Amino acid sequence: MAEKTAYTQAFRTGKYEKASGLLGKYDNVRRFWEDQVTSYCLRPVLQQLVDHKRQRLERVRIIDLGCGSGDGYDLLMGVTTKDPGIFEWITAAITPDILQEYVGLDINPDLIKQAEEYHAYNPKTRFLIGDLSNGLTPEVKAEKPFDIYFSSFGTFSHFHDHQSAKIIADICRHAPAEAIFVGDWLGRYSYEWQDLWHHPVDQEYFMDYRISYIYPEEQRSQVEVASFPLRLITKDELMHIIAQAAEQSGVAIKPLSFVDRSIFIGRHMDTGDYNANCPKLRGPVNSLFESYLRTELESLLVDYVPRPGFDYLNNFFEMFFMSCNALVKYTIALLSNYDSNRRKVDDPPPIMPFYPEPLKEVMATMLSIIEGIGWVPWGDVRANLIEPMLGYSLRKLEMELQPGTGVGHGLIGIFEIRK
Ligand SMILES: C[S@@+](CC[C@H](N)C(=O)[O-])C[C@H]1O[C@@H](n2cnc3c(N)ncnc32)[C@H](O)[C@@H]1O
Repeated sequence: MAEKTAYTQAFRTGKYEKASGLLGKYDNVRRFWEDQVTSYCLRPVLQQLVDHKRQRLERVRIIDLGCGSGDGYDLLMGVTTKDPGIFEWITAAITPDILQEYVGLDINPDLIKQAEEYHAYNPKTRFLIGDLSNGLTPEVKAEKPFDIYFSSFGTFSHFHDHQSAKIIADICRHAPAEAIFVGDWLGRYSYEWQDLWHHPVDQEYFMDYRISYIYPEEQRSQVEVASFPLRLITKDELMHIIAQAAEQSGVAIKPLSFVDRSIFIGRHMDTGDYNANCPKLRGPVNSLFESYLRTELESLLVDYVPRPGFDYLNNFFEMFFMSCNALVKYTIALLSNYDSNRRKVDDPPPIMPFYPEPLKEVMATMLSIIEGIGWVPWGDVRANLIEPMLGYSLRKLEMELQPGTGVGHGLIGIFEIRK
């Protein structure tokens, strides 16, 4: 009996959660790519906010709108202040002591129950069931102001633009003198839904979103996959919503940054539901991050198929995917020409001066890594060390070559509210 209690207790700390790795909601891409990209772009903003709060001897209050099973808690608490040196401990931007409370709100009672179970061990978390369709709920309005009004993974795409504007206007009214709003939509021009690009940009466009990717490929045609409408958006459309919210509330909303998340590996790259030309990239990228599993690197190459009439987008995607391809091919060449006795790569391909700077940087880094550790005979250095670094390098290309306009699966907007 005591044993059962001990295991149950351990489970409740959350430490016994199984990370799903190659499949599922919390696959490697979600944890090591998507969450990390969000985390990186929040870093400077959170750091400044926390500094101000500390100076005023106050703690940080967070609300996560459309929190699902409370995933925003781990994401926000995982944001670090910097990339640590090799002998430093990472410092979190929001340390547990500086957090006063994380409140999650969602319309779905099942997800709220799951959130409550998952976070049951944590007295600083609290969850509310509520519908945001008409703006912040009366329960939220009755709460003390929050410092961070957060949302993630496409939550705002559930709303029409006038509803989003109302929620944001309510946030502005509810917020203290200084707060942050993080809005998360689906990008309008992701390659994974190239078939939908033609819908006029002067009209709100909702795609019929299928969560088909949760089923293994062979089952997808046999199950009836439920679908629901989700708004696809550009940065310009998002700014229009922000302008409406500012006008309604009379509060200034300052844009801080816009981030395209998952240009390379949106969930629907693998299904081909909205673009049959997409390569199935999520599986290979999950494999890059998985220990003791080698990836066939050629499966990461993208043969971008342009859509006539979209020159600007075609040029961007061509440049982006060609840069990713160049890195993958370069890595393949380094691995195949590596001499483990001399610990050197024979004749590494040249890094051309006209390559985009981030590409030059990741290529030079892959060369140093492979020459530095390629000779280690134990622990499968290729699967366990070199391939994850290729994954992080592709992620770096995505972060540094992007315009932040709605060309990825997700479009994140970070805003400062000042009264
Ligand atoms: C794409 S999921 C994101 C979930 C979670 N934030 C995450 O990071 O995985 C969108 C969430 O918004 C919630 N949602 C949809 N419509 C809503 C509404 N009208 N009011 C409140 N939450 C809503 C859904 O139940 C779902 O949990």
